[in-house]
Amino acid sequence: MSQIDIIKTHYTTQIESAQDLKHLDEIRVSALGKKGEISKMMGGLGKMSIEEKKVMGPALNGLKNEINALIERRKDVLENKALDAALAKETMDMSLPVGRAAGTLHPVQQVMEEMAVIFSDMGFSVAEGPDIEDDFHNFTALNFPKGHPARDMHDTFFMTALEGEEKKVLRTHTSPVQVRTMMSQKPPIRIIAPGRTYRCDSDQTHTPMFHQVEGLVIDKDIHMGHLKGVLMDFVSTFFETDVDVQFRPHHFPFTEPSAEMDVRYERVGSAIKIGQGEKWMEILGCGMVHPNVLRACGIDPDAYQGFAFGMGVDRLAMLKYGMPDLRDMFSADTRWLAHYGFDPLLQANLATGLS
Ligand code: PHE
Repeated sequence: MSQIDIIKTHYTTQIESAQDLKHLDEIRVSALGKKGEISKMMGGLGKMSIEEKKVMGPALNGLKNEINALIERRKDVLENKALDAALAKETMDMSLPVGRAAGTLHPVQQVMEEMAVIFSDMGFSVAEGPDIEDDFHNFTALNFPKGHPARDMHDTFFMTALEGEEKKVLRTHTSPVQVRTMMSQKPPIRIIAPGRTYRCDSDQTHTPMFHQVEGLVIDKDIHMGHLKGVLMDFVSTFFETDVDVQFRPHHFPFTEPSAEMDVRYERVGSAIKIGQGEKWMEILGCGMVHPNVLRACGIDPDAYQGFAFGMGVDRLAMLKYGMPDLRDMFSADTRWLAHYGFDPLLQANLATGLS
């Protein structure tokens, strides 16, 4: 066997048995690298006689090309093997169920969605307004006279006034959305307005930021019976049980007559059961829209009437889902959120249940 054949057999066996790309590259370096065996032999050509060169030149070139080709072929095989191994290790089964998603819907979000579902079934749509309001929308248009003590009752957060402007307020209720809707839309109107509201108050049942859902209906020949029917239907659907209610006379500057709606409840152990029982709990304010409010919004009170209501979302969430302290709602404790949160993939709906 010539020396060339011996070298060829040696490297061929080595290349064929290389098990990974790193090892294969080491073989390449030892054969064809600058200081590799074949390179060295090619370097020796210069010292050969013309006769020898004529034989060894083409022979070495051929060897070099063959070894190169063998290495390339083996490289392909090893690369494919590495890819197969990676694919086998990194499988992802797209048909697997998602399981419990990492995040949950906050009870406030859940309850707002439940309310939107119930009222949209009665033909209401959802309206919105800004959290930072001006005095006109939060108070004046809602028939709060200037300097009237009712403005103080709201424990208003005032913003620092910009130069030459009046002080803005963090809205103390969602009722300014009534004003914005009536000023931008012609009756008939049927909206609810969920959102954040702010009052300077904090204890077990009050937080400086809380949520309300406002309701407003404006049309011809609307009366108190419509208001009672809508709210009675709402509350039984919301609590998913028959709920007995009573309307108690009350005062709001923007409604006349005004009322608060109470629901029957009883305590069972430490839990509160809404629906039946001997006690009454106030859950919302309501009334017929005051003619002054209609007028301030450009609606003729002799042609149109309406009713409005407003309720605290957080409190209703606590009552429905049994949370003891309102402040926990906004403390961002992940254990609380995991316990009271809702599956975001299960949408509230009236067909299969709200919650
Ligand atoms: N805005 C009132 C409040 O925050 C609630 C209300 C709304 C009452 C609409 C009557 C009509 O207390």
